[in-house]
Amino acid sequence: MPRRLRIRCVLVTGNFPVSRPRRLRSSAPLRDLAAETQLDVRHLVAPLFVREGIDAPQPIASLPGVVQHTRASLRDEVRQLADLGVGAIMLFGVPSIKDSIGSGAFDPEGIVQLSLRDLADDVGDRVVLMADLCVDEYTDHGHCGILDGPAGDPHTSVDNDATLDVYARIAIAQANAGAHVVAPSGMMDGQVGAIRAALDGAGHSNVGILAYSAKYASGLYGPFRDAVDCAIVGGGDRKAYQQDWRNGVREALAEVQADIDQGADMVMVKPALAYLDIIAAVRAQVNVPLAAYHVSGEYSMIKAAAANGWIDHDAVATEHLTAIKRAGADVILTYLARWFAEAHA
Ligand code: PBG
Repeated sequence: MPRRLRIRCVLVTGNFPVSRPRRLRSSAPLRDLAAETQLDVRHLVAPLFVREGIDAPQPIASLPGVVQHTRASLRDEVRQLADLGVGAIMLFGVPSIKDSIGSGAFDPEGIVQLSLRDLADDVGDRVVLMADLCVDEYTDHGHCGILDGPAGDPHTSVDNDATLDVYARIAIAQANAGAHVVAPSGMMDGQVGAIRAALDGAGHSNVGILAYSAKYASGLYGPFRDAVDCAIVGGGDRKAYQQDWRNGVREALAEVQADIDQGADMVMVKPALAYLDIIAAVRAQVNVPLAAYHVSGEYSMIKAAAANGWIDHDAVATEHLTAIKRAGADVILTYLARWFAEAHA
């Protein structure tokens, strides 16, 4: 029994008495009993992609194990996630036609709306159906809003207020299709208030809002942009509307509070691991459920290093998700949701 040997060794040779934390680490059942943080599959949200006009699921090279679904394969996947106890899904659409305002996002026959109807029928009473509410997957220029000038022109910017009108239409279309929660991710000022008013005005007072409140202009979204076939025209970026990652809690709390004041039911910090300080501060400050998005790049880094044999996938994946929870997230959006649910089934 090596463990007993080790304990005896400490007792005999040490000048120090065994400390309380050390004693509580001495067996797996004690460690489980004393663990402060538990990951629960019911608190995980699986981000999923559904693509218009394909007849077989398409792998995403930079997101191993994640696919662009067909309507049919999405239904199968979400039924299985429901059976595994995963709490929610976050649906993203990949339309076959993109335009300047992203009209596929609010078309009642758009791919996300059609899929939400399928899922509401299949599992609407077992899984929370969330829909990402943004236009970057649907615009030909790749920005999260409506432009005030020619795409690619350095003087062109995203028109905040024109974008809010489009977001309101998307919210109503998603709610009509059966979304339980809409999740605005475009970082427009006033988006939560505009969406809340639109939902209430359309008789959807029960549809909730998960606001991507503290969302940073992160390099970690790279694989996601492959997943939704999104490239910003002219090689631009989102730094004029997403947060600067040199800024911390002061700016994040202002963004979060604005969203709560406008009616957000839940708020989000995104990405997760490089922003644990933000997660902890927001958790301490607000009284609504806090979500954190373990984003595509965070997932891909684990997969790539594990594929090289450089790290142990399961150990690092569990450690990372647990750290996000420990920092204060109540809910975690993660491409690892299915893996975690299967590993703990
Ligand atoms: C915007 C949106 C993005 C992600 C979720 N919603 C991309 C972006 O802001 O550029 C990224 C998610 C991820 O990287 O996993 N609709």
